[in-house]
Amino acid sequence: MRRLDQLLANLGYCSRREARAWVEAGRVTVRGVVATDFGAKADPADVRVDGEPPDHPAGLLLKLHKPVGVVCSHDDREGPRVYDLLPARWRARNPAVTSIGRLDKDTSGLLLLTDQSPLVHRLTSPKHKVPKLYRATVDRDLASELIPLFAAGTLRLEGETEPCAPAGLRIISAREAEVTMTEGRYHQVRRMFAAAGGATVLTLHRSRFGSLELGDLAPGQWRELPLDYFARESRG
Ligand code: URA
Repeated sequence: MRRLDQLLANLGYCSRREARAWVEAGRVTVRGVVATDFGAKADPADVRVDGEPPDHPAGLLLKLHKPVGVVCSHDDREGPRVYDLLPARWRARNPAVTSIGRLDKDTSGLLLLTDQSPLVHRLTSPKHKVPKLYRATVDRDLASELIPLFAAGTLRLEGETEPCAPAGLRIISAREAEVTMTEGRYHQVRRMFAAAGGATVLTLHRSRFGSLELGDLAPGQWRELPLDYFARESRG
C-alpha cells in the first residue's frame, strides 16, 4: 500500500506536488472510484492513472545493448547516458533505474539495468562470482602464454595490490580473444591485457552476464526481463 501522491511521483509520472493536482483533477481511480484524497493509501494493483494501470509498480529489470560512446554514469556531463535510451518516465523513477555494474564508454554489449538495489548488490558482489563474457580485439598478436597467466589468479593490475581472480582466456584468432571473468574492477579487461604483456584493447564487447545472453538486441535497444529472472537462474 502506498500513498497515491507518492506512488505517482516514485513511478516517474510527475512531481509529488503535481501528483496531488492529478488526483484533484480526477485522473486517478482506486477500484474504479475516482480518488479525492491524494494521501490515501492504495494497492498499486487497484490504481488507474488516466484509466491505465500504473507503470511497473513492482520494479524494473532490463537488458540493454549498450552502444559504444554512451556512459553508464548518471552525470550527463560525461556524455550521452544509457538512461537517455529509456522512456522518460523511467528516468524519473525513485528509486532510480541504475546499471548493474558498468561498461566503460568505449565498450559495447550487454548491460543490465534495474531499480532493485538488492539485485545490484547481489550481481556485482565478487562473492557471488557471476561470470561475464567479453570479446576483445587487441593491437598485437596474442601469445598462448597469456592463457595460464589469466587463469593463475596472480595477475596484478597497475596501481593495485590484490591480484585478479582467475579469468578464462580463449584465443580466437591472432588478435582476438574471449575473456570470462567474475570480477568487475575499473576497466578490468583492458588493464588485464596491459598488465599481461602490454597489449592495448581496441574493441571490447560483452555478450553474456551469468547465463543471460545479449542475443539479437540491436545497439541502443533494450528488453524487459522478469524481476525474478536471476532468482530463477540461481534456483537452476
Ligand atoms: N573491462 C573493461 O575494460 N571495460 C569494461 O567496460 C568492462 C570490463
